[in-house]
Amino acid sequence: TQTIKLAVIPGDGIGKEVVPEGLKVLEAALEGSGVTLETTDFDLGAERWHRTGETITDAELEDIKTHDAILLGAVGDPSVPSGVLERGLLLRLRFALDHYVNLRPSKYYPGVATPLADPGDIDFVVVREGTEGLYCGNGGIVRTGTPQEIATEVSVNTAYGVERVVRYAFETAQARPAHHLTLVHKHNVLVNAGHLWRRVVEEVGTEYPEVKVDYSHVDAATIYLVTDPGRFDVIVTDNLFGDILTDEAGAITGGIGLSASGNLNPVGEFPSMFEPVHGSAPDIAGQGKADPVATISAVAMMLSHLGLGTAAARVQAAVDADMAARAAAEAVGAPLVRTTSEIGDAIAAAVRG
Ligand code: NAD
Ligand code: IPM
Ligand code: MN
Repeated sequence: TQTIKLAVIPGDGIGKEVVPEGLKVLEAALEGSGVTLETTDFDLGAERWHRTGETITDAELEDIKTHDAILLGAVGDPSVPSGVLERGLLLRLRFALDHYVNLRPSKYYPGVATPLADPGDIDFVVVREGTEGLYCGNGGIVRTGTPQEIATEVSVNTAYGVERVVRYAFETAQARPAHHLTLVHKHNVLVNAGHLWRRVVEEVGTEYPEVKVDYSHVDAATIYLVTDPGRFDVIVTDNLFGDILTDEAGAITGGIGLSASGNLNPVGEFPSMFEPVHGSAPDIAGQGKADPVATISAVAMMLSHLGLGTAAARVQAAVDADMAARAAAEAVGAPLVRTTSEIGDAIAAAVRG
């Protein structure tokens, strides 16, 4: 029998509410599959930081590396200076585990509440670079606190880093029916990084003649996501643009509580990490209001990444059924009102069939 050794990091705020629902559904999906689940809980996040001053230790990082995958809720808390946990824990994991692909799919389930009057057929995936760009921490402050203060954040874009994520995006586009890849950048202003991205897309593209390639500046891309999201199939973009676009993608498809993400190390050198796109949501934490679907869909992505396609499909089908129930309730003007764990229970029950 196969065993999945899963590192679990609930983290902060609603992370601690949605991760148990993801695990509930994961257990349901593995029942009768012959696959056993072995979880290790990592006590990381705001409480730990207040208690010990640590974000994550080298020993914990090494321990995490011995796992097959990581399920993370969210990190960040108003009681901790902004950036301490985001950089010291989440980005530390993404960088140390070389999660160079941050895969963020968006699919609209017809009838689900959306701010768009006419959402159309939304089904695209953002391939966000995960280890470079403005996230490297390459910068600093001089003359702090003076009128002459200078703060810099320098975006790092290497030919190596851009090429590997662009290649992954072409593979993704090649495998999807529409065979369409859009590079999103801002090469009219960011001429250095922009031209590197453009050149790499052009060069790698010669190996994928079936993939139709186009380009959108990031500001225009935010328009099209609202006015004509159906035009997108696969978007490849840098770390920060991908961050921003995928919150917008969540909003148009029914809410950020639905959007899942995989931080992938496609070469399998390190475990990949699956998490919702959203954060710790201090505004609703502790109230049982968080939608656990993003985390549950992240579990489906994880199963698929681990080669457990049947279990992944069962989770996906149960999420689809929940979306259908939401749409049916919207159609009769009585939207479903459920707690986080009620949604998790319903989806776990649907997985069991
Ligand atoms: P957020 O994603 O936590 O919340 C934005 C809005 O979306 C809030 O109104 C929130 O209530 C709502 N929301 C988020 N998840 C939801 C869910 N599952 N169901 C229903 N509504 C949901 O973003 P923020 O407020 O900018 O950030 C809060 C904290 O989370 C910050 O510390 C930030 O750094 C951190 N953060 C962490 C991650 C992560 O760990 N991956 C991601 C984003 C933000
Ligand atoms: C996300 C988050 C993170 C990011 C932060 C918390 C570091 O916003 O996962 O989208 O910017 O990548
Ligand atoms: Mn984000």
